[in-house]
Amino acid sequence: GGMAGAGIGAVVAGGAAFSLLSDAGKNKAGAATNTATLSIPDLLEGTTSDGTTTFTLEAKTGSHEVLSGVTSDTMGYNQDFLGPTMKWTNGDVVLLNITNSIGADTTVHFHGAHVPAKMDGGPQVAFADGETWSPTFTVKDPATTLWYHPHALGTTAQQAVHGLAGMIIVEDDTDTSAALPSDYGVDDIPLIFQCLAVDADGDIKYEATGYRESDVSFPLLLNGTNVDDTTLTFTATKTRTRFRCLNASPSDIITIQRSDGGNLTQIATDQGYLAEAADVTTIRLVAGARAEFVLDLSDDVTLQAVVTTGWIRGGSGTFDVLAVTASGTDTVDDLPSTLNTIDRYDTSDFTARTITLGNSGATMLINGSAGTSMDSMAMISTTLGSKEIWTIKNSTQLEHSFHLHDVPYQLISINGEDPTGVQLGWYDTYEVVGGGSIVIAMEFTDFADDTYMYMLHCHLLQHEDEGMMASLMITDDGSSSTSTSTDTSDS
Ligand code: C2O
Ligand code: CU
Repeated sequence: GGMAGAGIGAVVAGGAAFSLLSDAGKNKAGAATNTATLSIPDLLEGTTSDGTTTFTLEAKTGSHEVLSGVTSDTMGYNQDFLGPTMKWTNGDVVLLNITNSIGADTTVHFHGAHVPAKMDGGPQVAFADGETWSPTFTVKDPATTLWYHPHALGTTAQQAVHGLAGMIIVEDDTDTSAALPSDYGVDDIPLIFQCLAVDADGDIKYEATGYRESDVSFPLLLNGTNVDDTTLTFTATKTRTRFRCLNASPSDIITIQRSDGGNLTQIATDQGYLAEAADVTTIRLVAGARAEFVLDLSDDVTLQAVVTTGWIRGGSGTFDVLAVTASGTDTVDDLPSTLNTIDRYDTSDFTARTITLGNSGATMLINGSAGTSMDSMAMISTTLGSKEIWTIKNSTQLEHSFHLHDVPYQLISINGEDPTGVQLGWYDTYEVVGGGSIVIAMEFTDFADDTYMYMLHCHLLQHEDEGMMASLMITDDGSSSTSTSTDTSDS
Protein backbone atom coordinates (compact mmCIF):
# COMPACT_ATOMS: atom_id res chain seq x y z
CA GLY A 1 0.00 0.00 0.00
CA GLY A 2 1.01 3.54 0.42
CA MET A 3 4.58 4.09 1.31
CA ALA A 4 4.47 4.70 5.03
CA GLY A 5 7.24 6.82 6.39
CA ALA A 6 9.62 4.25 7.84
CA GLY A 7 7.16 3.35 10.57
CA ILE A 8 6.81 6.88 11.85
CA GLY A 9 5.08 9.94 10.58
CA ALA A 10 2.44 8.04 8.61
CA VAL A 11 -0.90 9.66 9.16
CA VAL A 12 -3.92 7.70 8.12
CA ALA A 13 -7.18 9.58 7.85
CA GLY A 14 -10.34 8.74 6.01
CA GLY A 15 -8.72 5.89 4.19
CA ALA A 16 -5.92 7.98 2.75
CA ALA A 17 -2.36 7.55 3.95
CA PHE A 18 0.00 10.48 3.96
CA SER A 19 3.67 9.90 4.23
CA LEU A 20 5.45 12.70 6.01
CA LEU A 21 8.87 11.41 5.11
CA SER A 22 9.95 11.26 1.54
CA ASP A 23 11.36 7.81 1.27
CA ALA A 24 13.01 6.31 -1.78
CA GLY A 25 9.72 5.06 -3.10
CA LYS A 26 7.54 5.90 -6.03
CA ASN A 27 4.53 6.99 -4.04
CA LYS A 28 4.09 10.68 -3.69
CA ALA A 29 3.67 12.00 -0.19
CA GLY A 30 0.04 12.80 0.36
CA ALA A 31 -1.18 10.65 -2.52
CA ALA A 32 -4.40 8.86 -1.81
CA THR A 33 -4.03 5.18 -1.19
CA ASN A 34 -6.31 2.83 -3.11
CA THR A 35 -7.81 -0.21 -1.49
CA ALA A 36 -8.68 -3.59 -2.93
CA THR A 37 -9.70 -6.88 -1.39
CA LEU A 38 -6.89 -9.32 -0.66
CA SER A 39 -7.08 -12.10 -3.19
CA ILE A 40 -6.62 -15.60 -1.82
CA PRO A 41 -5.04 -18.20 -4.11
CA ASP A 42 -7.45 -21.00 -4.96
CA LEU A 43 -7.11 -24.21 -3.05
CA LEU A 44 -6.25 -27.02 -5.47
CA GLU A 45 -8.64 -29.91 -4.95
CA GLY A 46 -7.00 -33.31 -5.07
CA THR A 47 -8.82 -36.53 -5.83
CA THR A 48 -8.25 -39.43 -3.48
CA SER A 49 -8.46 -43.04 -4.47
CA ASP A 50 -6.68 -46.16 -3.24
CA GLY A 51 -5.02 -44.08 -0.55
CA THR A 52 -3.33 -41.70 -2.99
CA THR A 53 -4.31 -38.07 -3.41
CA THR A 54 -3.70 -36.85 -6.95
CA PHE A 55 -3.16 -33.21 -7.88
CA THR A 56 -3.09 -31.86 -11.42
CA LEU A 57 -0.97 -28.87 -12.32
CA GLU A 58 -0.09 -27.24 -15.60
CA ALA A 59 2.75 -24.77 -15.91
CA LYS A 60 1.49 -22.36 -18.54
CA THR A 61 1.96 -18.90 -19.96
CA GLY A 62 -0.45 -16.03 -19.42
CA SER A 63 -0.68 -12.32 -18.84
CA HIS A 64 -1.12 -10.32 -15.67
CA GLU A 65 -1.05 -6.72 -14.48
CA VAL A 66 2.15 -6.72 -12.48
CA LEU A 67 2.66 -2.98 -12.76
CA SER A 68 -0.54 -0.96 -12.39
CA GLY A 69 -1.99 -0.33 -15.84
CA VAL A 70 0.60 -2.41 -17.70
CA THR A 71 0.05 -6.00 -18.82
CA SER A 72 3.02 -8.34 -18.54
CA ASP A 73 3.64 -11.70 -20.14
CA THR A 74 3.61 -14.09 -17.21
CA MET A 75 3.52 -17.75 -16.23
CA GLY A 76 1.49 -19.59 -13.67
CA TYR A 77 0.32 -23.00 -12.56
CA ASN A 78 -3.25 -23.59 -13.78
CA GLN A 79 -3.68 -19.83 -14.10
CA ASP A 80 -2.03 -16.75 -15.52
CA PHE A 81 0.18 -15.84 -12.58
CA LEU A 82 1.22 -17.76 -9.43
CA GLY A 83 -0.44 -21.07 -8.64
CA PRO A 84 -3.11 -22.58 -6.43
CA THR A 85 -2.34 -23.62 -2.87
CA MET A 86 -1.97 -27.35 -2.31
CA LYS A 87 -2.85 -28.99 0.99
CA TRP A 88 -0.94 -32.14 1.84
CA THR A 89 -1.51 -34.25 4.94
CA ASN A 90 1.34 -35.80 6.87
CA GLY A 91 1.41 -39.55 6.26
CA ASP A 92 -0.65 -39.44 3.06
CA VAL A 93 0.62 -40.49 -0.34
CA VAL A 94 0.41 -37.78 -2.97
CA LEU A 95 0.78 -38.00 -6.73
CA LEU A 96 1.22 -34.89 -8.83
CA ASN A 97 0.61 -34.87 -12.56
CA ILE A 98 2.39 -31.75 -13.76
CA THR A 99 2.26 -30.77 -17.41
CA ASN A 100 4.74 -28.36 -18.91
CA SER A 101 3.17 -25.90 -21.34
CA ILE A 102 5.60 -22.99 -21.01
CA GLY A 103 7.63 -23.69 -24.15
CA ALA A 104 10.87 -24.43 -22.30
CA ASP A 105 12.26 -27.08 -19.97
CA THR A 106 11.16 -26.73 -16.38
CA THR A 107 11.07 -28.61 -13.10
CA VAL A 108 8.81 -28.27 -10.10
CA HIS A 109 10.65 -28.27 -6.80
CA PHE A 110 8.81 -28.81 -3.53
CA HIS A 111 10.76 -26.32 -1.46
CA GLY A 112 11.20 -27.58 2.08
CA ALA A 113 9.63 -30.98 1.54
CA HIS A 114 11.35 -34.12 2.82
CA VAL A 115 10.99 -36.30 -0.27
CA PRO A 116 13.28 -38.62 -2.27
CA ALA A 117 15.80 -36.74 -4.44
CA LYS A 118 14.19 -38.09 -7.60
CA MET A 119 10.86 -36.56 -6.52
CA ASP A 120 12.30 -33.29 -5.27
CA GLY A 121 12.20 -31.45 -8.59
CA GLY A 122 15.86 -30.49 -8.83
CA PRO A 123 17.65 -29.85 -12.14
CA GLN A 124 18.17 -33.56 -12.86
CA VAL A 125 14.47 -34.14 -13.38
CA ALA A 126 13.81 -31.32 -15.86
CA PHE A 127 11.04 -32.10 -18.31
CA ALA A 128 10.32 -30.59 -21.69
CA ASP A 129 7.43 -28.58 -23.03
CA GLY A 130 4.51 -30.90 -23.72
CA GLU A 131 5.65 -33.48 -21.17
CA THR A 132 4.02 -34.48 -17.90
CA TRP A 133 6.08 -35.25 -14.79
CA SER A 134 4.39 -37.39 -12.15
CA PRO A 135 6.26 -37.52 -8.86
CA THR A 136 4.72 -39.50 -6.01
CA PHE A 137 5.75 -39.82 -2.39
CA THR A 138 4.55 -40.14 1.17
CA VAL A 139 4.26 -36.78 2.92
CA LYS A 140 6.76 -36.93 5.77
CA ASP A 141 6.70 -33.29 6.80
CA PRO A 142 5.06 -32.11 10.00
CA ALA A 143 2.53 -29.28 9.77
CA THR A 144 4.28 -26.51 7.93
CA THR A 145 4.17 -24.01 5.08
CA LEU A 146 6.16 -25.05 2.02
CA TRP A 147 6.11 -23.85 -1.55
CA TYR A 148 6.68 -25.02 -5.09
CA HIS A 149 8.62 -23.34 -7.87
CA PRO A 150 10.81 -24.20 -10.89
CA HIS A 151 14.42 -25.33 -10.47
CA ALA A 152 15.90 -26.04 -13.92
CA LEU A 153 19.53 -25.04 -14.42
CA GLY A 154 19.95 -21.38 -15.32
CA THR A 155 16.23 -20.60 -15.68
CA THR A 156 14.95 -20.66 -12.12
CA ALA A 157 14.89 -16.88 -11.70
CA GLN A 158 13.32 -16.26 -15.10
CA GLN A 159 10.50 -18.75 -14.55
CA ALA A 160 9.85 -17.90 -10.91
CA VAL A 161 9.66 -14.13 -11.41
CA HIS A 162 7.19 -14.62 -14.24
CA GLY A 163 4.84 -16.22 -11.73
CA LEU A 164 5.66 -19.91 -11.34
CA ALA A 165 5.27 -20.20 -7.58
CA GLY A 166 2.62 -21.50 -5.21
CA MET A 167 2.13 -22.41 -1.57
CA ILE A 168 1.90 -25.87 -0.03
CA ILE A 169 0.23 -26.26 3.35
CA VAL A 170 1.08 -29.46 5.18
CA GLU A 171 -1.39 -30.50 7.84
CA ASP A 172 -0.93 -33.03 10.59
CA ASP A 173 -3.00 -34.45 13.44
CA THR A 174 -1.08 -32.96 16.35
CA ASP A 175 -2.86 -31.21 19.22
CA THR A 176 -1.11 -28.01 18.20
CA SER A 177 -2.57 -28.15 14.70
CA ALA A 178 -6.00 -28.86 16.15
CA ALA A 179 -5.71 -25.78 18.38
CA LEU A 180 -4.74 -23.38 15.58
CA PRO A 181 -6.92 -21.74 12.92
CA SER A 182 -7.01 -23.86 9.76
CA ASP A 183 -9.99 -22.69 7.72
CA TYR A 184 -8.21 -21.69 4.50
CA GLY A 185 -9.06 -18.19 3.35
CA VAL A 186 -11.21 -17.59 6.42
CA ASP A 187 -8.91 -17.69 9.43
CA ASP A 188 -5.85 -19.28 7.79
CA ILE A 189 -4.52 -16.77 5.29
CA PRO A 190 -1.66 -17.16 2.79
CA LEU A 191 0.45 -14.04 2.18
CA ILE A 192 2.79 -14.43 -0.79
CA PHE A 193 5.15 -11.49 -1.22
CA GLN A 194 7.10 -10.81 -4.41
CA CYS A 195 9.38 -7.90 -5.19
CA LEU A 196 9.87 -7.90 -8.92
CA ALA A 197 11.64 -5.78 -11.52
CA VAL A 198 9.55 -4.67 -14.50
CA ASP A 199 10.31 -2.29 -17.34
CA ALA A 200 7.86 0.25 -18.74
CA ASP A 201 6.68 -2.24 -21.40
CA GLY A 202 5.81 -4.73 -18.68
CA ASP A 203 8.76 -7.05 -19.32
CA ILE A 204 9.58 -8.79 -16.07
CA LYS A 205 13.34 -8.79 -15.51
CA TYR A 206 15.34 -11.65 -14.10
CA GLU A 207 18.92 -10.97 -15.16
CA ALA A 208 21.15 -9.98 -12.29
CA THR A 209 22.72 -7.05 -14.06
CA GLY A 210 22.36 -4.78 -17.01
CA TYR A 211 19.20 -2.87 -16.27
CA ARG A 212 19.67 -1.14 -12.98
CA GLU A 213 20.32 2.11 -14.76
CA SER A 214 17.43 1.73 -17.15
CA ASP A 215 13.73 2.35 -16.96
CA VAL A 216 12.81 -0.34 -14.50
CA SER A 217 10.29 -0.26 -11.67
CA PHE A 218 10.40 -2.52 -8.67
CA PRO A 219 6.82 -3.34 -7.70
CA LEU A 220 5.86 -5.20 -4.54
CA LEU A 221 3.08 -7.75 -4.98
CA LEU A 222 0.97 -9.48 -2.35
CA ASN A 223 -0.85 -12.59 -3.57
CA GLY A 224 -0.27 -11.33 -7.08
CA THR A 225 -1.65 -7.81 -6.58
CA ASN A 226 0.57 -4.76 -6.91
CA VAL A 227 0.54 -2.99 -3.55
CA ASP A 228 2.77 -0.04 -4.43
CA ASP A 229 -0.15 2.35 -4.15
CA THR A 230 -2.87 0.02 -2.93
CA THR A 231 -3.51 -1.27 0.55
CA LEU A 232 -5.28 -4.61 0.43
CA THR A 233 -8.09 -5.28 2.84
CA PHE A 234 -9.14 -8.40 4.68
CA THR A 235 -12.13 -8.76 6.94
CA ALA A 236 -11.34 -11.21 9.72
CA THR A 237 -14.53 -12.97 10.75
CA LYS A 238 -12.72 -14.88 13.48
CA THR A 239 -10.96 -13.31 16.42
CA ARG A 240 -7.85 -15.45 15.98
CA THR A 241 -6.43 -15.40 12.47
CA ARG A 242 -3.38 -17.22 11.22
CA PHE A 243 -1.14 -15.76 8.52
CA ARG A 244 1.30 -17.85 6.49
CA CYS A 245 3.97 -15.63 4.96
CA LEU A 246 6.10 -16.66 2.00
CA ASN A 247 8.77 -14.45 0.51
CA ALA A 248 8.64 -15.59 -3.12
CA SER A 249 10.85 -12.72 -4.30
CA PRO A 250 13.90 -13.53 -6.36
CA SER A 251 16.22 -11.62 -4.08
CA ASP A 252 14.78 -9.05 -1.71
CA ILE A 253 14.33 -9.38 2.03
CA ILE A 254 10.83 -8.72 3.35
CA THR A 255 10.21 -7.77 6.94
CA ILE A 256 6.65 -7.99 8.19
CA GLN A 257 5.44 -5.78 11.01
CA ARG A 258 2.37 -3.97 12.30
CA SER A 259 1.90 -0.29 11.56
CA ASP A 260 1.20 0.28 15.27
CA GLY A 261 4.43 -1.41 16.32
CA GLY A 262 2.50 -4.12 18.17
CA ASN A 263 3.29 -7.78 18.44
CA LEU A 264 2.89 -10.57 15.95
CA THR A 265 2.61 -13.94 17.68
CA GLN A 266 4.97 -16.08 15.62
CA ILE A 267 4.13 -19.78 15.72
CA ALA A 268 6.24 -21.28 12.95
CA THR A 269 9.42 -20.85 10.95
CA ASP A 270 10.28 -22.44 7.56
CA GLN A 271 9.98 -25.96 8.82
CA GLY A 272 7.11 -26.02 11.26
CA TYR A 273 6.07 -24.96 14.70
CA LEU A 274 8.33 -23.24 17.15
CA ALA A 275 8.68 -24.90 20.55
CA GLU A 276 6.54 -22.09 21.89
CA ALA A 277 4.79 -19.09 20.40
CA ALA A 278 6.95 -15.97 20.38
CA ASP A 279 5.71 -12.38 20.49
CA VAL A 280 7.84 -10.47 18.02
CA THR A 281 7.56 -7.02 16.47
CA THR A 282 9.15 -7.98 13.16
CA ILE A 283 9.51 -11.12 11.05
CA ARG A 284 12.40 -10.94 8.61
CA LEU A 285 12.21 -13.29 5.65
CA VAL A 286 14.94 -13.77 3.10
CA ALA A 287 13.80 -14.79 -0.37
CA GLY A 288 12.42 -18.32 -0.16
CA ALA A 289 11.74 -18.29 3.60
CA ARG A 290 8.38 -18.70 5.34
CA ALA A 291 6.94 -17.87 8.75
CA GLU A 292 3.53 -18.12 10.37
CA PHE A 293 1.97 -15.88 12.97
CA VAL A 294 -1.41 -15.44 14.60
CA LEU A 295 -3.22 -12.30 15.62
CA ASP A 296 -5.95 -12.19 18.24
CA LEU A 297 -7.87 -9.33 16.71
CA SER A 298 -9.60 -7.09 19.18
CA ASP A 299 -8.93 -4.06 16.97
CA ASP A 300 -8.13 -3.50 13.34
CA VAL A 301 -4.51 -4.09 12.42
CA THR A 302 -2.51 -2.89 9.43
CA LEU A 303 0.35 -5.09 8.34
CA GLN A 304 3.36 -3.55 6.71
CA ALA A 305 6.08 -5.02 4.55
CA VAL A 306 9.51 -3.48 4.75
CA VAL A 307 11.48 -4.21 1.61
CA THR A 308 15.22 -4.31 2.03
CA THR A 309 17.30 -3.85 -1.07
CA GLY A 310 18.57 -7.12 -2.37
CA TRP A 311 20.39 -7.93 -5.53
CA ILE A 312 18.06 -6.35 -8.01
CA ARG A 313 15.65 -4.01 -6.32
CA GLY A 314 16.19 -0.38 -6.99
CA GLY A 315 14.79 0.95 -3.76
CA SER A 316 13.60 0.00 -0.36
CA GLY A 317 10.73 1.17 1.72
CA THR A 318 7.86 0.42 4.02
CA PHE A 319 4.48 -0.40 2.55
CA ASP A 320 1.09 -0.66 4.22
CA VAL A 321 0.17 -3.91 2.54
CA LEU A 322 -2.83 -5.30 4.37
CA ALA A 323 -5.51 -3.64 6.47
CA VAL A 324 -7.18 -6.30 8.59
CA THR A 325 -10.62 -5.43 9.90
CA ALA A 326 -11.43 -7.20 13.15
CA SER A 327 -15.05 -8.30 13.03
CA GLY A 328 -14.90 -11.58 14.97
CA THR A 329 -16.81 -11.65 18.23
CA ASP A 330 -15.88 -15.20 19.22
CA THR A 331 -13.69 -15.80 22.23
CA VAL A 332 -10.44 -17.69 21.84
CA ASP A 333 -8.55 -20.01 24.15
CA ASP A 334 -4.98 -19.35 25.10
CA LEU A 335 -2.53 -20.81 22.62
CA PRO A 336 -1.01 -24.11 23.76
CA SER A 337 1.95 -23.28 26.00
CA THR A 338 4.04 -25.77 24.04
CA LEU A 339 3.60 -25.94 20.28
CA ASN A 340 6.32 -28.42 19.43
CA THR A 341 9.12 -30.46 20.91
CA ILE A 342 12.41 -29.37 19.41
CA ASP A 343 15.36 -31.33 20.70
CA ARG A 344 18.37 -29.18 20.11
CA TYR A 345 21.21 -31.10 18.48
CA ASP A 346 24.24 -31.96 20.53
CA THR A 347 26.70 -31.54 17.69
CA SER A 348 29.81 -32.78 19.49
CA ASP A 349 30.08 -35.91 17.36
CA PHE A 350 28.60 -34.48 14.17
CA THR A 351 30.61 -34.52 10.92
CA ALA A 352 31.92 -31.01 10.22
CA ARG A 353 32.12 -29.33 6.82
CA THR A 354 32.64 -25.83 5.54
CA ILE A 355 30.58 -24.50 2.65
CA THR A 356 31.98 -21.29 1.19
CA LEU A 357 29.80 -18.89 -0.76
CA GLY A 358 32.10 -16.98 -3.08
CA ASN A 359 32.33 -15.37 -6.44
CA SER A 360 34.69 -14.64 -9.25
CA GLY A 361 33.33 -11.56 -10.95
CA ALA A 362 29.75 -12.28 -11.95
CA THR A 363 30.23 -16.02 -11.56
CA MET A 364 28.86 -17.26 -8.27
CA LEU A 365 30.64 -20.14 -6.57
CA ILE A 366 30.20 -22.70 -3.83
CA ASN A 367 33.48 -24.12 -2.57
CA GLY A 368 35.18 -22.58 -5.58
CA SER A 369 32.98 -24.26 -8.18
CA ALA A 370 30.31 -22.67 -10.35
CA GLY A 371 27.14 -24.72 -10.20
CA THR A 372 25.96 -23.81 -13.66
CA SER A 373 25.92 -27.47 -14.74
CA MET A 374 25.61 -30.72 -12.85
CA ASP A 375 29.17 -31.54 -13.85
CA SER A 376 30.75 -28.27 -12.84
CA MET A 377 29.12 -27.86 -9.46
CA ALA A 378 30.70 -28.93 -6.20
CA MET A 379 29.21 -32.14 -4.83
CA ILE A 380 28.87 -32.92 -1.16
CA SER A 381 28.82 -36.70 -0.62
CA THR A 382 27.48 -38.24 2.50
CA THR A 383 25.69 -41.33 3.70
CA LEU A 384 22.24 -41.96 4.99
CA GLY A 385 21.97 -41.39 8.71
CA SER A 386 24.86 -38.93 8.79
CA LYS A 387 24.60 -36.11 11.34
CA GLU A 388 26.48 -33.04 10.24
CA ILE A 389 27.45 -29.54 11.29
CA TRP A 390 28.20 -27.13 8.48
CA THR A 391 29.76 -23.71 8.63
CA ILE A 392 28.31 -21.61 5.82
CA LYS A 393 30.83 -18.91 5.17
CA ASN A 394 30.05 -15.89 3.01
CA SER A 395 33.41 -14.82 1.63
CA THR A 396 31.83 -12.03 -0.43
CA GLN A 397 30.55 -8.63 0.59
CA LEU A 398 27.18 -9.40 -1.00
CA GLU A 399 24.09 -10.56 0.81
CA HIS A 400 23.44 -14.30 0.34
CA SER A 401 21.25 -16.95 1.87
CA PHE A 402 21.62 -20.67 2.35
CA HIS A 403 18.96 -23.17 1.34
CA LEU A 404 19.30 -26.91 1.82
CA HIS A 405 16.97 -29.42 0.21
CA ASP A 406 15.72 -32.63 1.86
CA VAL A 407 16.04 -32.02 5.58
CA PRO A 408 15.54 -29.08 7.94
CA TYR A 409 18.42 -27.60 9.84
CA GLN A 410 18.94 -26.01 13.23
CA LEU A 411 20.94 -22.81 13.57
CA ILE A 412 23.91 -23.42 15.85
CA SER A 413 25.40 -19.97 15.52
CA ILE A 414 24.76 -16.82 13.52
CA ASN A 415 27.80 -14.63 12.87
CA GLY A 416 29.37 -16.05 16.00
CA GLU A 417 26.33 -15.47 18.22
CA ASP A 418 24.16 -18.12 19.80
CA PRO A 419 20.66 -18.31 18.35
CA THR A 420 17.82 -17.07 20.52
CA GLY A 421 14.03 -16.87 20.31
CA VAL A 422 12.61 -17.83 16.93
CA GLN A 423 16.13 -18.67 15.74
CA LEU A 424 15.75 -21.86 17.77
CA GLY A 425 13.16 -23.21 15.30
CA TRP A 426 13.70 -25.35 12.19
CA TYR A 427 14.88 -23.68 9.00
CA ASP A 428 15.65 -24.49 5.40
CA THR A 429 16.59 -21.00 4.10
CA TYR A 430 18.53 -18.48 6.17
CA GLU A 431 20.39 -15.24 5.68
CA VAL A 432 24.18 -15.19 5.39
CA VAL A 433 25.28 -11.57 5.36
CA GLY A 434 28.30 -10.32 3.44
CA GLY A 435 31.43 -11.43 5.27
CA GLY A 436 29.31 -13.35 7.78
CA SER A 437 28.71 -16.98 8.55
CA ILE A 438 26.13 -19.29 10.01
CA VAL A 439 26.65 -22.71 11.54
CA ILE A 440 23.86 -25.19 10.94
CA ALA A 441 23.25 -28.81 11.91
CA MET A 442 21.15 -31.48 10.26
CA GLU A 443 20.59 -35.19 10.06
CA PHE A 444 20.12 -37.03 6.75
CA THR A 445 17.23 -39.41 7.22
CA ASP A 446 15.05 -41.67 5.09
CA PHE A 447 16.29 -41.17 1.55
CA ALA A 448 19.41 -42.34 -0.22
CA ASP A 449 20.03 -42.54 -3.93
CA ASP A 450 23.20 -43.05 -5.95
CA THR A 451 21.87 -41.24 -9.03
CA TYR A 452 19.68 -38.36 -7.95
CA MET A 453 21.03 -35.52 -5.87
CA TYR A 454 19.60 -32.79 -3.69
CA MET A 455 20.68 -29.19 -4.10
CA LEU A 456 22.11 -26.62 -1.73
CA HIS A 457 22.31 -23.03 -2.83
CA CYS A 458 21.85 -19.36 -2.27
CA HIS A 459 18.13 -18.57 -2.66
CA LEU A 460 18.77 -15.26 -4.38
CA LEU A 461 17.64 -16.80 -7.63
CA GLN A 462 20.03 -14.90 -9.86
CA HIS A 463 22.93 -16.10 -7.71
CA GLU A 464 21.65 -19.66 -7.91
CA ASP A 465 21.41 -19.43 -11.70
CA GLU A 466 24.87 -17.86 -11.88
CA GLY A 467 26.42 -20.78 -10.07
CA MET A 468 25.94 -20.46 -6.31
CA MET A 469 24.60 -23.99 -6.12
CA ALA A 470 26.11 -27.36 -5.21
CA SER A 471 24.71 -30.88 -5.09
CA LEU A 472 24.29 -33.29 -2.23
CA MET A 473 24.61 -37.02 -2.87
CA ILE A 474 23.32 -39.19 -0.05
CA THR A 475 24.15 -42.84 -0.51
CA ASP A 476 23.24 -45.81 1.63
CA ASP A 477 26.48 -47.41 2.74
CA GLY A 478 24.59 -50.31 4.27
CA SER A 479 25.38 -49.38 7.84
CA SER A 480 22.27 -47.29 8.32
CA SER A 481 19.30 -48.90 9.97
CA THR A 482 16.95 -46.71 7.98
CA SER A 483 15.47 -48.43 4.98
CA THR A 484 15.34 -46.58 1.70
CA SER A 485 13.04 -48.99 -0.04
CA THR A 486 9.83 -48.49 1.85
CA ASP A 487 8.73 -45.35 0.11
CA THR A 488 6.06 -45.84 -2.52
CA SER A 489 7.87 -43.50 -4.82
CA ASP A 490 10.93 -45.72 -5.18
CA SER A 491 10.33 -46.87 -8.69
CU1 C2O B 1 13.33 -22.93 -3.26
CU2 C2O B 1 16.51 -25.28 -4.32
O1 C2O B 1 14.92 -24.04 -3.89
CU1 CU C 1 23.49 -15.14 -3.12
